[in-house]
Amino acid sequence: MRAPTGFVPPPYPHDRLDDLRAIAAEVPGGMVDASVGTPVDPMPPIVLQALGDAAPQATGYPPTIGSIAYREAAAAWIQRRFGVTVDAGAVMACVGSKELVASLPRLLSLRDPSRDTVLYPGVSYPTYAMGAELAGLRAVPVPVDERWGPDLSGVDPADAERALLLWLNDPANPTGVTATPTQMRTSVEWAGAHGVIVASDECYAEFTYDDAGRPAGPVTALQVSADGVLALHSLSKRSNMAGLRAGFVAGDAGLVGYLGEVRKHAGLMTPSPVQAAAAAALADDEHVDAQRERYAGRRVRLLPALEAWGLVHDGGPSTFYLWLRSADAREDGWSITARLAQTGLLVAPGSLYGAAGDRHVRLALSLTDEHIDLTAQRLEGSP
Ligand SMILES: Cc1ncc(COP(=O)(O)O)c(C=O)c1O
Repeated sequence: MRAPTGFVPPPYPHDRLDDLRAIAAEVPGGMVDASVGTPVDPMPPIVLQALGDAAPQATGYPPTIGSIAYREAAAAWIQRRFGVTVDAGAVMACVGSKELVASLPRLLSLRDPSRDTVLYPGVSYPTYAMGAELAGLRAVPVPVDERWGPDLSGVDPADAERALLLWLNDPANPTGVTATPTQMRTSVEWAGAHGVIVASDECYAEFTYDDAGRPAGPVTALQVSADGVLALHSLSKRSNMAGLRAGFVAGDAGLVGYLGEVRKHAGLMTPSPVQAAAAAALADDEHVDAQRERYAGRRVRLLPALEAWGLVHDGGPSTFYLWLRSADAREDGWSITARLAQTGLLVAPGSLYGAAGDRHVRLALSLTDEHIDLTAQRLEGSP
């Protein structure tokens, strides 16, 4: 067979940590892996109940766009959480949100081949750039401002003209920052003025805090407009359902309708028991309030130990990520990661999220309380 000359998948970002993972794993008591934001707390019992109840009825195919019950639960949650009215017809299920992040550029470029560029925050979730690459489009990072927000004034006008899609992420992974309503308006209006679709990834919306660590109201791009706007949500973090793969997108009815049609051809169905479980989760806020408090408690417990060890928190108060740099400004993120691995703690170097993050590391607070305590003790006892 002829040797292929095309796309070779790059190493998966977190696989690049394998050597340091091995070092952390050798520390007596074992590794504490804070490099990935994968929930460790239990799923709420209502979710397990709904999942079990719906399983015997899963003999037939589920609707690709999502059951009426799921889409109505999502629309009701958006209303409750953000004060925005969306019709259930402008909501569509996805199989967790990562697959939609990765596939959206391709699906939108089939619809509008006249634009070939995807804009995404310069320090961000790597799948935004990967989705552009998988679509054969140009992935162009938007420069970040001094507080890690997107600085759209830094976008080259030629790139703006070619842009199909602008990714926003609020609150942001890996930096934990949240846009003010004015900043969100500026971004959405900038995109509208350039004829660019906005995909606003809001999967951490429930973990929005103010600077004092108190719960704060999240923002959504839909508060500005639904015209040309898609808001992506996920049950993975909100309800500790990452393993069940449930997400949804809401916003511009024409775009959501198009995505529903094309995804139906592709067979991208969320299993019906998962849809039932997600609908039950969305109807309940109590378990989310408890989870929000858990993450806030873990931040308060661990951050002083990290600071005493020589790190500075340089991100915002939201999500469950700490965005840390060294008190020694010359040290880069890989070096911090290597030093922390020797204490048994694995974090993610900031350069995995973009070149502008190369002095930083991201630490996920999705750790058990036992691991938070163990890490604090280890840091306190280590130079
Ligand atoms: C910013 C962001 N968007 C989307 C996702 C995808 O999550 P999921 O596919 O579980 O919904 C993640 C996962 O970590 C994320 O950090």
